[in-house]
Amino acid sequence: MNFLFLSLIIFICILLFSFVVLGVRYKKLKNTFRNHKNVLRNILKTVNSVRYGNLFERVNDDAMKVLPNFGQSINSMIDAISDREDMIKEYQADLNKKIEALKEVEQLKEDFVATLTHDLKVPIMAEKNLLAFLLDNKFGDLNEKQKEAVVLLKNSNQELVELVEIILETYKLNETEIVLSKEPVCVKDLIEETIIEMKPISDSDDININFDFSSEKDAGIDKFYIKRVLKNLILNAISFSEPGSNIDISLSNDENYVYINITNYGKSIKPEEIEHIFDKYYTTAKKFRKVGTGLGLYLSDKIIKAHSGKIDIESQKDTKTTFTVVLPV
Ligand SMILES: Nc1ncnc2c1ncn2[C@@H]1O[C@H](COP(=O)(O)OP(=O)(O)O)[C@@H](O)[C@H]1O
Ligand SMILES: [Mg+2]
Repeated sequence: MNFLFLSLIIFICILLFSFVVLGVRYKKLKNTFRNHKNVLRNILKTVNSVRYGNLFERVNDDAMKVLPNFGQSINSMIDAISDREDMIKEYQADLNKKIEALKEVEQLKEDFVATLTHDLKVPIMAEKNLLAFLLDNKFGDLNEKQKEAVVLLKNSNQELVELVEIILETYKLNETEIVLSKEPVCVKDLIEETIIEMKPISDSDDININFDFSSEKDAGIDKFYIKRVLKNLILNAISFSEPGSNIDISLSNDENYVYINITNYGKSIKPEEIEHIFDKYYTTAKKFRKVGTGLGLYLSDKIIKAHSGKIDIESQKDTKTTFTVVLPV
């Protein structure tokens, strides 16, 4: 009996002791778990902070004591990212310097071309006036052969005048914002006037320009700039026409817009080329042994956009190309 009682007491003691030991262990484990949770939260905060660009953040000493290897890896990773970022900044600074240098060279080149063109304009205009005097017989009568020769000179002089003006206008628009002086202009009259001015050039390629209009509406436009666009488009139509062919120009309007169509017959524009033809310096003129700067459509597009209009193109393979200028009235 005594033995049984003693065994029971010993069993209860062992049980109580076990409970105490387990309780202490549990508390320790709970503390360790809480500690680790805090450390992980701290590391996550560091990682997030780095993610949002703070590369000065590091895993702190308390966290390093609990998870030294993990903390060290994270800190090394942040060091590496920081080094890369410094490298990228250096590359970027270097690249910016190179871009600036390129821009300077480009500016110098444009300044040079503009100065040269500006200086060329003076003798070309003097030549134009002289040729007009000659044709008016102001220096005495010309015989037929002489007259033919002077007409040819006048035609090529007019082409030079247009080329020089396209270059100078483009240069001017690069330097300053386009300032329009709009007024009500009869578009039909403006087109007729332009066709007459382009006649020496179309005549020299034996090209006939037809003009058909169903509108005599005024549009609020800058006459000088829109004439520049019309000349550019007609000049292109002449350049890319079959010699001896026609150019058809038509004018119409609806309530809100006037539509100017310029159609020429001959080499078309390939679909993959269309997206580039308004780019600065894009030209295929050399391919066809023509003079081209690649500035005409670039300039025209700028002018028409400044008028809140647009230029549409439709080109049918090896048959015809139509440029449509759409201008708000
Ligand atoms: N009417 C047209 N027919 C065929 N191609 C054209 C026509 N107008 C323009 N293009 C194409 O668009 C290019 C760019 O025209 P543009 O800017 O006026 O430059 P450029 O006339 O000096 O070549 C031309 O070189 C040509 O390839
Ligand atoms: Mg052109």
